[in-house]
Amino acid sequence: MNSKITAIGVYVPSKRITNEYFEQFIETNNEWIISRTGIKERRFAEPDEFTSDMCVSAVKNLLAENPGVNLDGVDFILVGTTTADQVMPSMASQVQNAFSIPNCGCLDIMAACAGFVYGIVLAKGMIAAGTHKKILVLGAETLSKFTDYTDRTSCILFGDGAGVALIEPSDQPKVLNGITGTDGSHGKDLYLSQHNTLVNGEQIDPNGKIHQNGKVVFKWAIQTITNKVGELLAKNSLKLDDLDWVILHSANLRIIEAVATEINYPMDKMLTSIEFFGNTSSASIPLAWDLASKAGKIKPGNKILLLGFGGGLTYAGIIVEV
Ligand code: COA
Repeated sequence: MNSKITAIGVYVPSKRITNEYFEQFIETNNEWIISRTGIKERRFAEPDEFTSDMCVSAVKNLLAENPGVNLDGVDFILVGTTTADQVMPSMASQVQNAFSIPNCGCLDIMAACAGFVYGIVLAKGMIAAGTHKKILVLGAETLSKFTDYTDRTSCILFGDGAGVALIEPSDQPKVLNGITGTDGSHGKDLYLSQHNTLVNGEQIDPNGKIHQNGKVVFKWAIQTITNKVGELLAKNSLKLDDLDWVILHSANLRIIEAVATEINYPMDKMLTSIEFFGNTSSASIPLAWDLASKAGKIKPGNKILLLGFGGGLTYAGIIVEV
C-alpha cells in the first residue's frame, strides 16, 4: 500500500525573541548571530506552555486550515521530540487524549532534530505493511526550557515550535523511499542529560541542558548530509533536477548553504525556517514546509526532499510528492 501526506499543520508560540534579547546576559550581537547562523528571531513558549500543548495546537491548526480533513480513523500518533513535558506519559498519548481518538497507538520518537522525518519513514512503513491507515506524525520542541543561557555558542540557536503531517494510503506512491542512519560515536557531541552518566566513555554534564560541540556537529552535518542527499536520490532513481524543493533541518543557514554549494543546487530551492524560528529541532522541517506553502511556493505535484539530522548523531531522509 502506498502513502501520501494529505495535510500539514504547524504552531509556534506568540512570544518573539530577537537577537538583541541575548545581549542582556551574554557577549553577543545581532550581526554575529545573523552572519554565523542566519537566525533573525525565534519564538519561546510561555512558562506554562509545554511540548504537548504545542502538539495539540499544531493539530488544531491542521484541522482549521484543511477543511474536509478530520481525525476520524486516526490509528497511530508518532511524536518526534527530545523536549517532552515529562518522561511519561508520552506526548503522543497526550495528543490522543486531547482529541479523544479511540483505538490509536501512541509513540514518541527520540531522534532529536531528525524525529519528524523518522516519523514519516516509520508511518510509510506501517501503511505499506497494511497494519495502519491514518497516522499523525509530529515534530515538536520546547528547546527554550532546556537551553543553557550561559553558553553563548548554543543559547542563541534554539527556538520552540511544532509541526504535524497527516499520512494516509494512496493509489500512487507519494511518499517515496527513505533512508535512516546514525553515528553513535558522536553521541557526546550533542546531548541532554539529567543523570551522571558516561556517553562514549566520557562523563557528561547532568544539568538537564543541551550541550553541543558546535564545530564537530557543523562539520559532520555538512559532510553527512551532502552524501545522504545523493544516496536518497539514488535509492529513488531520481536526479537533483527531478526535485522541486529541498528541506534540510534548519540547524544553521551556513550548513544549508554549504550543502547547496557541495551538491550544486540553487539556494532559492532550499526551504528553511531558521530565519524566523531559529533551530526548532524536530519542528524545523514542517515549519519550513508551512512557510513555503503559505508563500505559494509549494504546488501540487511538487517533489520535496526532506532530510533531518541531529543528536545521536542521527539522520533520516525521504522524498515526498505533494
Ligand atoms: N556571539 C558572539 N561570538 C560568539 C558567539 C556568540 N553567540 N558564540 C561564539 N562566539 C565566538 C567564539 O567564542 C569564537 O571566538 P574566538 O574565535 O575568539 O574563539 C568565534 O565566535 C567563532 O566561534 P565558532 O564556534 O568557531 O563559531 P561557528 O562559526 O562554528 O558557529 C555555531 C558556532 C554553534 C553557530 C556552529 O558551530 C553551529 O551551528 N554548529 C552546528 C549546529 C548544528 O548543526 N546542530 C545540529 C543539530 S541541532
